[in-house]
Amino acid sequence: MSYRNDVNHSKLLAWVDEMTQLLKPDNVHWVDGSVEENDLMTDRLVKGGTFKKLNEEKHPGSYAAFSDPSDVARVEDRTYICSRRKEDAGPTNNWEDPGKMKKTLKGLYDGAMKGRTMYVIPFSMGPIGSDIAEIGIQLTDSEYVVVNMRIMTRMGREVIDVLGEKGDFVKAVHSVGAPLEPGQKDVSWPCNPDTKYIVHYPEEKLIQSYGSGYGGNALLGKKCFALRIASTMARDNGWLAEHMLILGVESPEGEKTYVAAAFPSACGKTNFAMLIPPKEMDGWKVTTIGDDIAWIKPGEDGKLYAINPEAGFFGVAPGTNNKTNPNAMASISKNTIFTNCAVTDDGEVWWEEKSKEPPANLTDWQGNRYDPSSGKPAAHPNARFTAPASQCPSIDPAWEDPKGVPISAFIFGGRRATAVPLVYQAFNWNFGVYLAATMGSEMTAAAFGQMGKVRRDPFAQLPFAGYHMGDYINHWLQLGRIIKNPPRVFGVNWFRKDENGKFAWPGFGDNMRVLRWIVERVSGKGFAVESPLGWMPRYEDLDWRGLDFSEEDFNKVMDIDTEVWKQELLGHEELFSKLYNKLPKEVFFMRELLVSGLWRSPEHWSLAPERPPVNDQM
Ligand code: OXD
Ligand code: MN
Repeated sequence: MSYRNDVNHSKLLAWVDEMTQLLKPDNVHWVDGSVEENDLMTDRLVKGGTFKKLNEEKHPGSYAAFSDPSDVARVEDRTYICSRRKEDAGPTNNWEDPGKMKKTLKGLYDGAMKGRTMYVIPFSMGPIGSDIAEIGIQLTDSEYVVVNMRIMTRMGREVIDVLGEKGDFVKAVHSVGAPLEPGQKDVSWPCNPDTKYIVHYPEEKLIQSYGSGYGGNALLGKKCFALRIASTMARDNGWLAEHMLILGVESPEGEKTYVAAAFPSACGKTNFAMLIPPKEMDGWKVTTIGDDIAWIKPGEDGKLYAINPEAGFFGVAPGTNNKTNPNAMASISKNTIFTNCAVTDDGEVWWEEKSKEPPANLTDWQGNRYDPSSGKPAAHPNARFTAPASQCPSIDPAWEDPKGVPISAFIFGGRRATAVPLVYQAFNWNFGVYLAATMGSEMTAAAFGQMGKVRRDPFAQLPFAGYHMGDYINHWLQLGRIIKNPPRVFGVNWFRKDENGKFAWPGFGDNMRVLRWIVERVSGKGFAVESPLGWMPRYEDLDWRGLDFSEEDFNKVMDIDTEVWKQELLGHEELFSKLYNKLPKEVFFMRELLVSGLWRSPEHWSLAPERPPVNDQM
C-alpha cells in the first residue's frame, strides 16, 4: 500500500529513501490512517501472536498484547540527549557527541528491518492543521506501534496534505532491532534484549530509537517528541512543553477554571485528570483535556493557553477500577489495547485492584496460569491501556480547540510521606518556580534506587527535559517576566502518611476539596493564611461535606515541621549544586528567604487561628 507517488515533499522523500536504503526493509508502507488499514494491522498482529482478540461483548474492538519480559518500560539509562554541546544537555541527562552517536545508530540500523515492513507514519501532535500543532514522521518496523500511534496521535494521510511541499517535521526513526533472516519465524514481541537506545538530537529535531517496542521508547510522539524535543522548541520560541495533565473545574454557578498539573510518573495523573467530585459537593464538575502532556503558549491577552498534543491515553492499568477512576474505566470500555495485563479464559482483561479478588481461570501477563497464592502480580506493574481520549465521559468540549484553554493555576505534586503539606499556594510566580524546581518523590520501586529516598524531579520533567535543567528553570522565570497574567502556583501532596505509615489523606475524588480551594483562590474568593512556605487554607476554608476528616486530621496533613524543613532545604541544596553552572541566581535567594521564614516560626508551624486570613490575591 502506498501513496508515495502523491507526496510532493522532496526532503521527506529523500529522507525516507535514505533510511530505506540503510534499514533494508522488505516493504515500505505509507500509513494512511484508515479503518481498513487498521483492520489489516490488527489482523497481522493477531496472526503473529502479538495481539489476542478480547471478548467482543466485554471489550468490543479491543486487544491484549504481551511484551517480552525484557521490554516492559521506558529505559531512562538508555535515553540520550545528544545536543551539540554537552553543557546544553546538562547533568541530569545522558549525553554523547551527536556525530559519534549517529555512527553507533547507523551501525545498528544497517539492515535492522530485514524481513520486515517499514511503516511511514505521518502524525500530528495537536489537532491537524492547528497553529500550535507540530508534525512528525515516524518510521517503524512494528505494527504494534502503528496501531498505538493511531490512538495516541492524529495519524495518516491527512497530515501529509498539511505538510505540503515544504512543511517542517520532526524525524523519528524506530526499529525493534530484530531483523529476520529468510525463512526465520518471527516472535510475538520482537525487540532487542541486549541493545537499546532512545536518542534525541534537539538541534536537528531528530529522534532515533532502537531495540524496544514498548510505550515511550517506541511511540515516539509522546515523551520523545512532545516533551524532550518540544521542550527545546519551546525554550527557543517562548512557550512551554510540560509533563502536565490539563483539567477544567466547573463551579455550581457554571464558572469554568482550567488548571494544569505536574506529577512525576506513577503519582495518579490520569486519576486526577478524570476526577469525579464527591456527590455531596453538589454541582462541582471536573472535565478532562489531557492526562500527561501540555503544550502551553502565551496568548495575546497575556494569559497562558494550553493544548493536549495527544489524542489518547496511555495509562497505567493496575490500580484502576470503578472506585479509583470510573471515567478511565469507561474510556477503556472499547477500542482499547491492553499491554501486559492478565486475561481470563473468557477473553476478559484483569489487573491488580481491578476487582478485590482475581477472577478464576486467569493467565498472567507472561502466559502462565495465574496462581494467586504465588504472591506475584498477574499483570505487570507497568501494564498499560491505550484508549482514545474521545471515549472519556469527562472529556472537555474544548479539548480539541486549536486555541487551547486558558490556564489559571499550575499545580505541582510529588509523593512525599512527610514534609510537604496537603496544599499550599506559592507567594508569587518566582516562589512557584522554586516550588516546582525542588519537587520530588520518594522512590517506590527498587529499580529507581534507594527505597524511600527523595528523588528530586524538577517540574516532574527530570526524565523528559530536552536540555539543561538549570536553563529550564530560567526559562520558567523568564516567562513569568513577560506574561501579564501568570497563573497562580500551588503545591500539593496526596501521599502524606500518618504515624502508622498509612496514607493520611483519602485522595482520589476527595482531592476535589483541595481543587475547589485552588480555583477559589484563583478567583479571589478563597481564604488563606500565611505560612513559611506560602498561603494555606485553614480547616474552615475547605469543603468537608461528605467526609469525616477532623480539624486534628487536617492539621496533621498540613503540618510544617521546622526541623524536617531544614533538612528538606539541604536536599534542595544537593540538587542546586548539581545544576550549579546554569542555575539562575534567584533560586539561591529564594532558598534563603524560605530559611528565614522557618527561623521566624515556632518549632512546629501551625495554622494558628489568630492569623488573619486573606482572600485578596497578593
Ligand atoms: C508515563 C510516564 O508513562 O510518565 O506517562 O512514565
Ligand atoms: Mn507521564
